[in-house]
Amino acid sequence: MTENRMPNLIAGERVHGDDVLDVTHPYDGSPAGSTTYATSDQVERAVAHAAAIAPEAARLPMHVRADALRAVSEAIKAHTDELAALITAENGKPMQWSRGEVGRAVSVFRWAAEETRQESGEAIRLDSDPGGEGRLAYVRRVPRGPVLAISPFNFPLNLVAHKLAPAVAVGAPVVLKPAPKTPLSGIRLGELIAEAGAEHGLPAGMVQVVNVKNEDAGSLTEDERLPVLSFTGSGPVGYSIRDQVPGKHVTLELGGNAGVLVAADADLDHAAKRIAMFSNYQAGQSCIGVQRVFAEQAAYDVFKDKLVAQVEALVTGDPKDEDVFVGPLIDDAAADKVEQWVDAAVEAGATVLTGGVREGTTYAPTVLEGVPHDVQAWCAEIFGPVLVVEPVPDVETGFAAINDSDFGLQAGVFTTDIATAFRAHRELEVGGVVIGDAPSYRADQMPYGGVKDSGVGREGIRYAMADFTYERVMVLTGLDL
Ligand code: SIN
Repeated sequence: MTENRMPNLIAGERVHGDDVLDVTHPYDGSPAGSTTYATSDQVERAVAHAAAIAPEAARLPMHVRADALRAVSEAIKAHTDELAALITAENGKPMQWSRGEVGRAVSVFRWAAEETRQESGEAIRLDSDPGGEGRLAYVRRVPRGPVLAISPFNFPLNLVAHKLAPAVAVGAPVVLKPAPKTPLSGIRLGELIAEAGAEHGLPAGMVQVVNVKNEDAGSLTEDERLPVLSFTGSGPVGYSIRDQVPGKHVTLELGGNAGVLVAADADLDHAAKRIAMFSNYQAGQSCIGVQRVFAEQAAYDVFKDKLVAQVEALVTGDPKDEDVFVGPLIDDAAADKVEQWVDAAVEAGATVLTGGVREGTTYAPTVLEGVPHDVQAWCAEIFGPVLVVEPVPDVETGFAAINDSDFGLQAGVFTTDIATAFRAHRELEVGGVVIGDAPSYRADQMPYGGVKDSGVGREGIRYAMADFTYERVMVLTGLDL
């Protein structure tokens, strides 16, 4: 294994620390690969390097950044099979979803290349008021500084891409701390960026990858040389980091217990299929996986039967098997949590319509009915293949039920009535409303992020680029406008 050990990427070099990080396959515990934790000297070197190259990175011409990003997109595409296998090995995501994740990362870098060429600043004539006669403001966006990217285990490639690509696009060096459960895809992406970057004129070490234990992450988060922090992960961790560094520019992409409403006018077969699929894709380990389902009373019984049938049709098992749709949870602790929360819901009076069975790290796709609203399977983020279903008398009550949550990331509404769609868009307290599909739909160029306990700031390439930069205005005077 030693010769295949993946490196940390620091200051343009592949380096190994002393402490080995073995990565195992969540389904059966087999080895998925290994890397090392960076030593504290190596972490210091990475941060110092990011700070040192920041002025050069900020001056990179647009075409250099754009061409490098385009080359990365092409490199990811050329390595689709390798990257998909790596994602499945370390994360346990079924192969069909791993391939989809690679395809999304290809798009993220392609979009970043395209967005890079769009930036032209803004000119504002100031002679709208007497004091501004002969004056013109020109606004450009300037990187806030090197970015610290902290990524989660559930999309080990694409949620890394969502942080690295916009940073390169705006000319900001970036230090990635990947999730210790799934560091390998991010390291491999870092290697591909280093290769493409060397060919296209990015400074060496524009993107660095350092493995740091979560409990040691303060060495990065608290360092003032990394003034921008982009975090995706759990709410308690995200908010505690933000509280520790009030002077930093922090984006938090946190969790949710996404709600969906099925109106009586909806295509119930379509709704049942999509909800079943997106409650259980990657074993429910998505911040926008469906957790709470509300159906209008008039359609409830018919819809519920269709939903249970669709959930029961999902193939569960070894994620390396091409036919498998639902793989394992990331580890035993995650499976313990799902099991305990379902058991607690049942003890509190819920009925299991299907599922409720655990085998190792795999939990059967589960539908619960009659769940009291104060149990965790309802009101907290289960991050597992479990959904709760409940009738509502009408659409308005359904909107209120979706909003009755500490979270607000995305929501879905199945309806064929355009007026209901616009009402949903107005009423639902979330970052994104999806009409005619599950809340789990995400196009990578859309703004993505939440309100309430789901976080602050937005990803989606253009929106992250705005987040990583600030407006700097230049006023020209004495002009004959
Ligand atoms: C997330 O879990 O927040 C990411 C969902 C996605 O990118 O599809």
